Parts: sequence; C-alpha cells; structure tokens
Amino acid sequence: MKKLNVNIDHVATLRQARLGTYPDPIEIAQLVEKTKASGVVMHLREDRRHIQDYDLKNYKKIIKIPLNLEIAPTNEMISIANRIEPKMVTLVPEKRKELTTEGGLDIVSNFKKLQKLISILNKKIKVMLFIDPKIKIIDSCYQLGVHGIEINTGKYCEAKKKSIAKEIENIKKGSRYAEELGLYVAAGHGLNTNNIGNIAKIKYIKEYNIGHSIISDSISLGIVKSTNRIYNIINKK
Ligand code: PXP
Repeated sequence: MKKLNVNIDHVATLRQARLGTYPDPIEIAQLVEKTKASGVVMHLREDRRHIQDYDLKNYKKIIKIPLNLEIAPTNEMISIANRIEPKMVTLVPEKRKELTTEGGLDIVSNFKKLQKLISILNKKIKVMLFIDPKIKIIDSCYQLGVHGIEINTGKYCEAKKKSIAKEIENIKKGSRYAEELGLYVAAGHGLNTNNIGNIAKIKYIKEYNIGHSIISDSISLGIVKSTNRIYNIINKK
C-alpha cells in the first residue's frame, strides 16, 4: 500500500494566530493515529511561524506513529533533529519571506554543505531530500548516500492546462530513475483531492506528504458539527 503522511503545520498556524494553546497539533496527531495514515509531518521553520520546539518534544512523549521532521539544512536544525530523533528528516530549502516552501533543494551547488550536515545527523534517522525531479539532482542525492527523495509536486499542482502533462512526465521519469538507483521515493506539496489522481498512479512513489488540503478540508468536514455543538450549549435549558 502507498503511505500517506499528514502534515499538521497548519494546525499550529491556527494556534499561533492567537498565540494560544489550541488547536493543539499533538491532539490532532492523536486523531491522525486513528486514521489510515502512516505518519505525521511537521516542519520546524527557522522563524517558528507554526510548529514550535515544544510541539516536537510533546510529539516524542505522546505520539507513536512515525514523525517526518522537515527542516532547513542548518546546524541549528540538525542538532534539534539529533535531540528529537524522528524516524525521518526531510531537508527542505527555506526562505524567510516565502509563504510556503518554494521549489526543491539546490543539491548540486550545496553538495559539500549538505554532505557535512548529513554526516553529523544521527545515523538512526532516515534522510530524505526535497527536490525537483531532475536527473542531475537525483544523481547528487544518490552520491550523498541518503535514504531517499521527496519529489516536489508544487510545479505540477500550479501548472496551467497545457503544461500539466509535461510536469507529470517529469515526475514519472524522475521517480523511476530514483527508484532504479535504489532511492526511496516520496512526493508532496500542493496535493489535494482534485490533483492527486495523476500522481497516485505513479508506481515508483511510495509515500505522499500532504498538509494544507487535508487541514483545509477538515474545516468544511467539521464545521456543521462544531457549530451545532456550541449552539446546543447556548440553548441548554
Ligand atoms: N513536503 C514538503 C517538503 C513541504 O515543505 C510541504 C509543505 O510544508 C509539504 C510536503 C506539504 O505541502 P502541502 O501543505 O501543500 O500539502
């Protein structure tokens, strides 16, 4: 079976909007544990705009399903990952001003830096690199000796009609090439119920990391229940 990991960053985005205590991403991770999803993804951003360091500590204490920790390739983040010891770390590029991750890691120009950072990461942690599906980049991932790659599906999700087929082909080719090299292949970014069908058909992709659309859909799926619950308290006789 193909695996689904739920990215719960935007639960924390909602909490941080009021700097309060709810919604609590760990409570949501407990609910994810009851679903068919295999694991949870959290991105500890350098500016801490959503997930906080204490969320990672609480996850470690409470949640049993595997955590895929997304982090920028920096010394600070590597030492946090070494303390938290998630099952998997996905290295992603990060820019302060971006709304979300924009594009894959530039592995070729940052090869030496990544090699150094990966060498100090706890060997028990599986390392994934978030990349655009280009052969040269996949070759560099292979040379870095990582567990696998997460293919950036963002470009496909944003593609206009006439370039969609080309983007799917790029993802298909890249994922097949990576698998031939023995790399584990995941995919994510921008996926939702309307656009995942084409990507779900690609047999080389074993795992999907999806956040924004799942958290967004859970609002429409839950609004009737949560509104009526409050209404019933107001009108309790
Ligand atoms: N994979 C990576 C590497 C990401 O940075 C993100 C966004 O945090 C996702 C997957 C999930 O993307 P989305 O929230 O658009 O589903």
